[in-house]
Amino acid sequence: MGFDNLLAGRTRAMDINVIREILKVVSQPGMVSLAGGIPAPESFPLEIMHDLTSTVIDKYASKAFQYDPTEGFEPLRETLVDYLKSKGIKSNKEEILVASGSQGVLDAIGKVLISKGDKVAVEAPTYLGALQAFTPYEPQYIRLATDDNGLIPRSLEKVLDGGGIKFIYLVPTFQNPTGRTIPLERRREIAAIIIRHDALLIEDDPYSSLRYRGNEMPTIQSLAPANVVYISTLSKVFAPGLRIGFCVAPALIRKWLVIVKQGTDLHSSTFNQALAAEYISGGFLARHLPKIINLYRPKQEAMLSALDKSFPADFNWSRPEGGMFIWVEGPAGFDMETLYWKAVEKKVAYVPGKYFYTDPAEGIETMRLNFTMIDEETIDRAISTLAEVIKQEL
Ligand SMILES: Cc1ncc(COP(=O)(O)O)c(C=O)c1O
Repeated sequence: MGFDNLLAGRTRAMDINVIREILKVVSQPGMVSLAGGIPAPESFPLEIMHDLTSTVIDKYASKAFQYDPTEGFEPLRETLVDYLKSKGIKSNKEEILVASGSQGVLDAIGKVLISKGDKVAVEAPTYLGALQAFTPYEPQYIRLATDDNGLIPRSLEKVLDGGGIKFIYLVPTFQNPTGRTIPLERRREIAAIIIRHDALLIEDDPYSSLRYRGNEMPTIQSLAPANVVYISTLSKVFAPGLRIGFCVAPALIRKWLVIVKQGTDLHSSTFNQALAAEYISGGFLARHLPKIINLYRPKQEAMLSALDKSFPADFNWSRPEGGMFIWVEGPAGFDMETLYWKAVEKKVAYVPGKYFYTDPAEGIETMRLNFTMIDEETIDRAISTLAEVIKQEL
């Protein structure tokens, strides 16, 4: 018996996740995957987990296993205030909401803010997971133009001038999928534009701590705090399986985020939040982060030099100063999805970039490459293989 007739209208409207279908082959034996977007298992601080777990049990005892307030475990919220200060974000613990990953915040944002048909402005391309979080609430996506320096402020201004935008969603630093970072001057312009238009910006920032070169950028939240919901996560600097994300949000929005989170999961795992609190307040994060950076930096350099060495001259790629991704653009019309199946035959997988656009006609000639999961030698080999497949296709 089929239950199709029972599905909600909005469920029917959701695209099946084509990307999942495409990526099924990634787990085939011998496949080298540049497709993932996940941290290397060696980046997890396993060596301290026993001690951290014992500390949590000794320090918090049954409290670590009990129901807890929806807003988050108090010691974690307290320590996040200092952590955020190190990122130039002024907050107090009442302003912080802990969620089950930044994905948990994105879903709550969708639930709180989006009515069917509302206009939500997103970068082209943007983070697919945000689209998956927002799409069930049936928004109309409005495209924001980007270049090598991320969002073009003029495009934002034009979209806001058009009126009726519920919110803007941006990943300003080491964006997923492009790796691009919005430079300081543009951040100032963007902050001034959203203040002038009294607009709401969702700033999603999972990657800024993974900086391999260059100077740290101020968050847009620090330039326009009353207009921004700032979201971040411990997924890339601790362990994603613990599902610890958090946000700092203007009071009214925060109130509603808490109410919808109550309905979703009551609160995020108390035990995991206690681990996170000890990881940050015990100084483990500060000591461990350089190890993660030293693990990823050579991988990224290996990928960039392999691209320089072997990719054709009419291909361009981003040169991010951090994060987990490199974005490649081929000549106009070059179909990276057709190429994908040929690359898979040679045991190399990546993500065709068109899936990160809200307009299915865009991004045909783009691909996202991840470098965190494999060693430098394998990266070099995989990029040479891709280059050969590309040359055959050309
Ligand atoms: C831009 C962006 N936002 C949010 C997330 C979700 O992360 P979390 O594990 O905190 O839910 C990711 C994960 O890759 C991401 O790239």
